[in-house]
Amino acid sequence: MNMVERPRRLRQSVGVRRLVAETRLHPSNLVLPMFVVEGLAEPRPIESMPGVVQHSLASLAEAARQAQQAGIGGLMLFGIPTHKDAVGSEAVNPDGILAAGVRTLAAAVPGMPIIADLCLDEFTDHGHCGVLDEHGQVANDPTLTRYREMATVLADAGATMVGTSGMMDGQVAAVRDALDKAGRTDTLVLAYAAKYASAFYGPFREAVASSLRGDRRSYQQDPANGVEARREVRLDVAEGADIVMVKPALGYLDVLAEVTAMVDVPTAAYVVSGEYAMVEAAAANGWIDRDRAVLEALTSVRRAGATIICTYWAVEVAGWLRERS
Ligand code: PBG
Repeated sequence: MNMVERPRRLRQSVGVRRLVAETRLHPSNLVLPMFVVEGLAEPRPIESMPGVVQHSLASLAEAARQAQQAGIGGLMLFGIPTHKDAVGSEAVNPDGILAAGVRTLAAAVPGMPIIADLCLDEFTDHGHCGVLDEHGQVANDPTLTRYREMATVLADAGATMVGTSGMMDGQVAAVRDALDKAGRTDTLVLAYAAKYASAFYGPFREAVASSLRGDRRSYQQDPANGVEARREVRLDVAEGADIVMVKPALGYLDVLAEVTAMVDVPTAAYVVSGEYAMVEAAAANGWIDRDRAVLEALTSVRRAGATIICTYWAVEVAGWLRERS
């Protein structure tokens, strides 16, 4: 037996494995998505996302302070209005729930990066990410006009970053231009560059009380396509994206790795509601070891190249990382 290479030597003990680990999670790179609901007095659990709640403005502030104490890197906010209409009027209301939530966060956790979701779907009665034309199709350019307005409202409310998640063509350029014209040259654009039309957004629809009928396949990407993701990313970077995101994360690690190799801006990945729910449901049944599964999933996203990971587990995992370091 003449075996020179024995890879197992590097796996022999906790100490050696720790020494040679290539990938490490850190609280600073974790972002917690949060939901705030207009008129809510108490936080309300989201049934399909055990452990995640819809917040009132008061509970949002409290949860944000806990997140900051846990050392996570940022917060991402979705707002759910009482009133929805065809054009998503509440999205551009400076006193609307999303702007109010952003103001609440900015006051509660100064210095913490706050990402405001920039999309109309929570605000439209038809549930689409844009406004519709006379045939009921999502109309790209009229939607950009709404996004421009929304961007300035969110920046004025105190958002560090806007998350352009609507998958309209030209949305990053439109939003960048609107922000710059409003003197908001410092407001970052986190581009949902490669966002797929995914079944794994299922629980999110409950979280945001979505009124969507039909699907988003005329604007979000086909899960079959990887090359197309490169095109979307190329355009978003050219239009001024500061960070590009791939979403969902776990089924799209190949896309994430490719995107990370191709750009010179930070990349992010969003472990979405259905990915969260799958792990939670299997763990609740005793079918997988929950904590190990969570860490394995997030470590894989990081290994594939994401600097930033948006995850509903952010605060809990940050706690584990601090205990173990
Ligand atoms: C739309 C939006 C969605 C998610 C984030 N932003 C849903 C969709 O595109 O239908 C999904 C997030 C998740 O599932 O965790 N603005």
